Amino acid sequence: MHAPILAPSILAGDHSDLASSAAIVAATGLEWLHLDIMDGHFVPNLSFGPQTVAALRKKSKLFFDVHLMLDEPHRYVEAFAKAGANLISIHIEPAYDYAATLARIKELGCRRGIVLNPGTPAGAVKPFLAQVDLVLAMTVQPGFGGQSFRADVLPKIAQIDAWRREAALDFRLEVDGGIDLKTAADCRNAGTDTFVAGTSFFNAADRAAYAAAIAKL
Ligand code: DX5
Ligand code: ZN
Repeated sequence: MHAPILAPSILAGDHSDLASSAAIVAATGLEWLHLDIMDGHFVPNLSFGPQTVAALRKKSKLFFDVHLMLDEPHRYVEAFAKAGANLISIHIEPAYDYAATLARIKELGCRRGIVLNPGTPAGAVKPFLAQVDLVLAMTVQPGFGGQSFRADVLPKIAQIDAWRREAALDFRLEVDGGIDLKTAADCRNAGTDTFVAGTSFFNAADRAAYAAAIAKL
């Protein structure tokens, strides 16, 4: 099992000063930063694009875990790779050539992630498990920070973890949405090793203690 990684979501950071929010993450001793990209179509919200990621790249050495919530992610993977993404995750719900897009992400020098929404069955990503570095199981309907964790996703996480062990694969299993210490522990028990946290990280009274508690899971 991979050691736990906490990836704070900059969606909950200060959007007038994202570099300072990224610096808070680095100062906490963490290595990953989760960046949520929304197109107003796949999800009913807008966030920011490759220009912002590129600007932040110049100010931060963190590992950029880029979550594309886009109807047509294949059209943008190159732009985000050039902007400095280290890992690019694409959703399974819209229709496009998933295998070709994952191959392109790898060719661009990034790690590959596949994402499924709470209502999407685990079987949808099963054919791609050998071609990814990370599977992201959404634990809220994507689009907004600060929503409540969906415990009904836990059996699906356990299923994906079981497939991972059966096939001796080593992709990371990430959760995103409503994560705090309690829900992270439940996800860890189901097989998760990578935890996105927006609200709970940036609002934590003691972020170092929060990060240490995740590391101990
Ligand atoms: C939701 C995003 C999440 C979000 C999580 O659409 O994908 O990454 O930032 O925020 P919290 O941790 O506040 O639920
Ligand atoms: Zn996300």
